[in-house]
Amino acid sequence: MGTQPAMLPLDPNEILVAASEEEMLDLGRRIGVRMRAGDILLLEGDLGAGKTTLAKGIVEGFGASLAEDVSSPTFPIVHEYRGGPAGAHRTVFHLDLYRLETQHEVRGIGLDDLLDAVEDGAAVMLVEWAERFPRLWPADAIRVRITMCDETRKLSLWRPAVE
Ligand SMILES: Nc1ncnc2c1ncn2[C@@H]1O[C@H](COP(=O)(O)OP(=O)(O)OP(=O)(O)O)[C@@H](O)[C@H]1O
Ligand SMILES: [Mg+2]
Repeated sequence: MGTQPAMLPLDPNEILVAASEEEMLDLGRRIGVRMRAGDILLLEGDLGAGKTTLAKGIVEGFGASLAEDVSSPTFPIVHEYRGGPAGAHRTVFHLDLYRLETQHEVRGIGLDDLLDAVEDGAAVMLVEWAERFPRLWPADAIRVRITMCDETRKLSLWRPAVE
């Protein structure tokens, strides 16, 4: 059956393009406001594609933190943002797996506990360089692919069909 539209209700015919860092932040905010606890977004793209920039917008749109307070989780691999109005906790786990070599190392950061929390609806997860460890993610994780052409970035966003 191939792919089906992502659950995120962005118009499937909309071409998601960001011509600048600021536009990428805005795209992230638009995605973030539509995310629900339990969602996992795998952010794919080459070095410098804009994964962290998009993540900043997503964290802000979701309501967990201001974009300016979000930074690349190169070390210690996972950043956690908690915010939102009282009684409506909004937690984001933001991972960057670039520096890890093996699945064993990824599990060593406590991935299973993080995935459990997401599955329980306590958080959302954003993962940079998830494609290096394709076997670690739930089949219905949402994939966001960023492609670059000079300053312009194009996003495609889909949730693989789950049999
Ligand atoms: N349209 C654009 N969208 C996003 N970033 C852009 C754009 N045009 C230029 N840039 C620049 O590209 C860089 C993107 O950096 P960012 O850290 O978001 O990428 P990344 O994919 O997370 O990189 P890494 O692979 O190192 O984790 C920033 O310096 C940003 O200013
Ligand atoms: Mg990054």
